[in-house]
Amino acid sequence: MSDNTPWFEGIKFPMIHFSPEILREVRDKFVVKDEDTITVTYPKSGTNWLIEIVSLILSKGDPKWVQSVPNWDRSPWIESTGGYELVKGQKDPRVYTSHLPLHLFPKSFFSSKAKVMIYCIRNPRDALVSGYFFLSKINVTEKPETLQQYMEWFLQGNVIYGSWFEHVRGWLSMRDMENVLVLSYEDLIKDTRSTVEKICQFLGKKLKPEETDLVLKYSSFQFMKENEMSNFTLLPHAYTTEGFTLLRKGTVGDWKNHFTVAQAEAFDKIYQEKMAGYPPKLFPWEEC
Ligand code: A3P
Repeated sequence: MSDNTPWFEGIKFPMIHFSPEILREVRDKFVVKDEDTITVTYPKSGTNWLIEIVSLILSKGDPKWVQSVPNWDRSPWIESTGGYELVKGQKDPRVYTSHLPLHLFPKSFFSSKAKVMIYCIRNPRDALVSGYFFLSKINVTEKPETLQQYMEWFLQGNVIYGSWFEHVRGWLSMRDMENVLVLSYEDLIKDTRSTVEKICQFLGKKLKPEETDLVLKYSSFQFMKENEMSNFTLLPHAYTTEGFTLLRKGTVGDWKNHFTVAQAEAFDKIYQEKMAGYPPKLFPWEEC
């Protein structure tokens, strides 16, 4: 399976819907517009939750859009072959998603005033556990056989989209820019309403309290889990295996149920080395 893996600039991408040619074109030629709204995350950090929230903010809480159009068409992944075509065909203001690390992101972003870039981080331990269960049941890259094996790949950056550490360090270097809003999965869980309000303010969207209530209702774990436009059940069956689910647990700290003491210590050691120098307050999981 790994033979079909597309690589670009030393980073592994999913086997389906990705190619080095498109990745190069997206980086070098795609023109980010000032009106674009872009959601960026490292995989398994709450991407689809944010897509749902942004979609619902744009529709002022009306669920019609999220209940009739799959999330990957509402906010396509710019770097995938199909997503790239969709984004190029979108009417302004465009809304799209990316997992690209900073150095592979469209170069034009750095000279544009793109109104919004939301970057959402998550405790890498939880992103790891979430990724392990997800990738074990989807045929897009090499399947890990054990959590230990996936942890080794994750810590080496030998996973799709590369190293969590490099991704987060790269994007956090943009955190003081006016057009970049850094959020965390942990804050979204802890105080969903005020995080949604923060996003509204950032997007320049004024919602009435009852419209915000609807955003919260339709982007909740339970609603998303049941909405086939948001829960990935529309993926072709050939892509997934029994037990596959996107909306798995939706909690903070699930890693504690899966890491052994030795794994937690080994992870911590590397985390401390790689993230040295960052103020802990940037990372809500450090306070948990
Ligand atoms: P778990 O596997 O820990 O449950 P991504 O969208 O980046 O692939 O991230 C998937 C993770 O986000 C999964 O985490 C999923 O359950 C969680 N998630 C998705 N929608 C959510 C929601 N509405 N509320 C809480 N968590 C959500």
